[in-house]
Amino acid sequence: MSGIPEKELSVLLHSSRYDLSQFDSGDAELNDFLKNDSLREQNEFLSKTHLCFYRDRVAGFISMAADSVQAKKDKLDPSQIIEDCEYPVYPCILIARLAVDKKLHGYGVGSYLLSLAIGYAMESPLGCRYLAVDPKKGALEFYEKTGFRFWTKSQRRMFLNLRYVSEQMQMNDSLDLWARNDNKKSKLSTG
Ligand SMILES: CC(C)(COP(=O)(O)OP(=O)(O)OC[C@H]1O[C@@H](n2cnc3c(N)ncnc32)[C@H](O)[C@@H]1OP(=O)(O)O)[C@@H](O)C(=O)NCCC(=O)NCCS
Repeated sequence: MSGIPEKELSVLLHSSRYDLSQFDSGDAELNDFLKNDSLREQNEFLSKTHLCFYRDRVAGFISMAADSVQAKKDKLDPSQIIEDCEYPVYPCILIARLAVDKKLHGYGVGSYLLSLAIGYAMESPLGCRYLAVDPKKGALEFYEKTGFRFWTKSQRRMFLNLRYVSEQMQMNDSLDLWARNDNKKSKLSTG
């Protein structure tokens, strides 16, 4: 299935001016949150919700909140420890809720919202080491594909380590065609 081109998607901070009446993710709890609680939570500075639009209709949403993760060694799943925990607590952003309209499942809107969250977290003026989510059972694989892993023994919360995302991006940058050709050019000019 080919995805919706990113240029056809736009994202705006939630406000009372948007019509949410047609939105249906197929999950009653998530629909109810968006329609009845998201603005109140936003006004109370508990979470912020961004709406994703496709052709003037709400295609999906993501709600995020500041959080922290306690890196107590005895609570960590030994098979999943991916770094030495230097600090007892790490700052993170919790993806409190994320859903896509069921008519658009499988077209890349969810991935687009996740990449948006990664961008926000990495460019935030505040430090943020992890993105966290308590995945619904049916969405586990969706998060795994982006690199989220269970970290604690409770297997309730998944984490994406932004340090590793950043390292991955730097590796990809070194494959960037501009960078490669600039290198070639400077080699040529130095003879
Ligand atoms: C889970 C959800 C957000 C995914 O959004 P989406 O726009 O359908 O996902 P995408 O099209 O971006 O899919 C990205 C990848 O994840 C996979 N994927 C998406 N949903 C999946 C699922 N439920 N199970 C397994 N894989 C899934 C896709 O096949 C795709 O894989 P690919 O890159 O190999 O092709 C969406 O299905 C949804 O809103 N579900 C109902 C609400 C929900 O469960 N929200 C999550 C709360 S934690």
